[in-house]
Amino acid sequence: MPDNNPLEELESLRVAALGELDTIPDEVGLDAWRVAYLGRSGKLTQVLRSVSALPPAERPLLGAAGNKAKVSLEEHFGARRTAINNVRLDALADDAIDITLPGRQATVGRLHPSTMILREITEIFRGMGFQIVEGPEVERDYYNFEALNIPKDHPARDMFDTFWLDANKDAEGRFTTLLRTHTSPMQIRYLEAHQPPIRVVVPGTCYRYEATDAAHEWMLTQIEGLVIDENISFPHLKGTLESFVHRFLGPGLETRFRCDYFPFVEPGAELSIRWGDRWLEMLGAGMVHPEIIEAAGLDPERYTGFAFGMGVERFAMLRYGIEDIRNFYQNDLRFLQQFRGVS
Ligand code: DAH
Repeated sequence: MPDNNPLEELESLRVAALGELDTIPDEVGLDAWRVAYLGRSGKLTQVLRSVSALPPAERPLLGAAGNKAKVSLEEHFGARRTAINNVRLDALADDAIDITLPGRQATVGRLHPSTMILREITEIFRGMGFQIVEGPEVERDYYNFEALNIPKDHPARDMFDTFWLDANKDAEGRFTTLLRTHTSPMQIRYLEAHQPPIRVVVPGTCYRYEATDAAHEWMLTQIEGLVIDENISFPHLKGTLESFVHRFLGPGLETRFRCDYFPFVEPGAELSIRWGDRWLEMLGAGMVHPEIIEAAGLDPERYTGFAFGMGVERFAMLRYGIEDIRNFYQNDLRFLQQFRGVS
């Protein structure tokens, strides 16, 4: 039996418990408090249990006092819990939800106009029997230039201001990896892996290291076309591109083919469209160069083909009367939102 008066000890336990209770801010604290004092091995519970170990004469006094203390703690606990809940309810009421307010409009994403138009164009070619394939945007000099008859130091390289990656260099210290400047490298990649008949279009993003203005942007979307088979001739090229133009821009449009130079086609051509009283150059095309057919392991006497490459934004600009190509990638919602549900 400790020397201290158990009744006093009980009272100071009660006072300490109530003092703690007043500082508890939340439900979690309340729970911990209840476990600590009133729980199965809580402090008050232990005192009540120890009553049975006392001499019978002392039991009633301490037992009664213990029970009183328990009731007192339970009552204060209940009161404290009500107080804490009231504080929470008050806080909720402060920013109560006004269910009569109109809902906030959710922002819904949609496809970028370049993507929508790209899909529309590839659909037109799919309808003509073309397959759709894609290639890498980080490309090797070999595919972007060399294999397309544009060796190092060839003047045609000036047509393409190039973003080079400093990751790889050749023995002479020249960069060998780039962001593709056009989708034409896929002509070579596709030929490496497939046999005629070949009829594919290649949609994709291309990059040009050049100053931007209303007609030039450093990022653009192209679609390349490649057809190789027996007996393919220039009229196939003309017919294919004319039907594309008529489907995409309108049936009555006048088109014009004129000679142009691209190292990977022979002859090469540019297609122009009559727009009002002007002729607008729209794309490059030509008959696949026999050297490219030969390099693919095919007999150029037997297999011929045509290729073309067009800028998607340029076609979109014509169709929607967009005057500045830079609109496409400035992320101005006032521009982008005009294209909801175009295709
Ligand atoms: N790749 C060329 C460019 O970006 C466009 C082009 C011209 C593609 C003629 C072709 C082609 O396939 O035959 O300027």
